[in-house]
Amino acid sequence: MKKWKIALVPGDGIGPEVVAEGVKVLQAIEKLDNTLSFEFERFPWGCEYYIEHQKMMADDGIEQLKEFDAIYLGAVGYPGVPDHISLWDLLLKIRKGFDQYVNLRPVRLLNEELTPIKNKSEKDIDFLVIRENSEGEYAGAGDWLFKGKKEEVVLQTGVFSRKGTERIIRYAFEEARKQQKSLTSISKANALNYSMVFWDEVFEEVGKEYPDVKTESYLVDAASMFFVMQPERFEIVVTSNLFGDILTDIGAAITGGMGLATGANVNPERNYPSMFEPVHGSAPDIAGQGIANPIAAIWSVAQMLEHFGEEEWGSVVVETIKEIIDEKKVLTPDLGGKHSTSEVGDYFVEKIAGKLHHK
Ligand code: NAD
Ligand code: IPM
Ligand code: MN
Repeated sequence: MKKWKIALVPGDGIGPEVVAEGVKVLQAIEKLDNTLSFEFERFPWGCEYYIEHQKMMADDGIEQLKEFDAIYLGAVGYPGVPDHISLWDLLLKIRKGFDQYVNLRPVRLLNEELTPIKNKSEKDIDFLVIRENSEGEYAGAGDWLFKGKKEEVVLQTGVFSRKGTERIIRYAFEEARKQQKSLTSISKANALNYSMVFWDEVFEEVGKEYPDVKTESYLVDAASMFFVMQPERFEIVVTSNLFGDILTDIGAAITGGMGLATGANVNPERNYPSMFEPVHGSAPDIAGQGIANPIAAIWSVAQMLEHFGEEEWGSVVVETIKEIIDEKKVLTPDLGGKHSTSEVGDYFVEKIAGKLHHK
């Protein structure tokens, strides 16, 4: 029996609402498969915790999370606590603390009716964005000079180390080789005359070791257009932290919205736990109403299962999501349905229980 220890960090707003449904799914799988078991521990960290304790997580929070096999996170950030504090002291602290330098964000259309783009089908929108997740524009390096004076200057420095840039690009080449897919680097060397010139050089250098991988290189502005106009151009994409953040919200938009997009924050060396979370945030505009779409969070469960080596279950979860979407019977309002977050979760469990899993 394989036993996986999962730390739950539901966080803020709709975070706890959607994480509850992902947990339901894991518990359903555990019941169906007697070779698997999941143990959960819940950490109440987030903005409410901050208001009570003046900190986003326990002082030894990173230490506490270290012993887990995975972290399952909802969303962080809520009006009342400045975003740069809440995110830097919890979400980004975990990504950095555990060197989760690979962010895997699939952009996959499950049903052509979900895309706002005309004449695009499931085969046209099916790619993986590999986002650098540890440095770049998110290095936290900068300065705020002459605050409030007329000479005021603010610097936000992008940090691109050789180690950090090479490892993400190498990871992407390995993935492209494994999947026999093309690899597109998205950068911006025409304007960012240090960081992205360096990025492009590293991409070219590392690429020499992978003559079997077909490569493309785009500027991020043009790539944003192609994400929308010709998404079929992309198979595997590698890009910097900030570009990856922005591009994957476009990815969400072309595949059905924020309620469906998932991301895995991976430490490939497995020195530390990896973290699985929806791409969306705490959605204060709909929090507390029980109408958040739990599918993105459930898709994160699929990524977690794949990470555990349970690829078969990962596929079952994604297939079941597709079935539910195709049926159009039990969906939340963002997808035109009338059902609640927990009704979608319950329906998912009902469907998955109907499947026999042979080991
Ligand atoms: P958001 O993703 O929370 O919401 C954007 C829009 O998408 C909203 O209209 C929202 O209702 C909708 N939406 C998001 N998830 C949905 C779901 N599951 N079902 C249905 N609709 C959904 O982005 P935002 O409003 O820019 O940010 C809100 C807060 O969340 C901010 O504090 C932000 O910093 C934080 N945030 C956190 C994360 C994270 O923890 N990973 C990610 C993004 C934003
Ligand atoms: C995401 C989020 C985070 C990011 C924020 C909340 C710091 O937008 O995971 O996409 O920018 O990485
Ligand atoms: Mn984002």
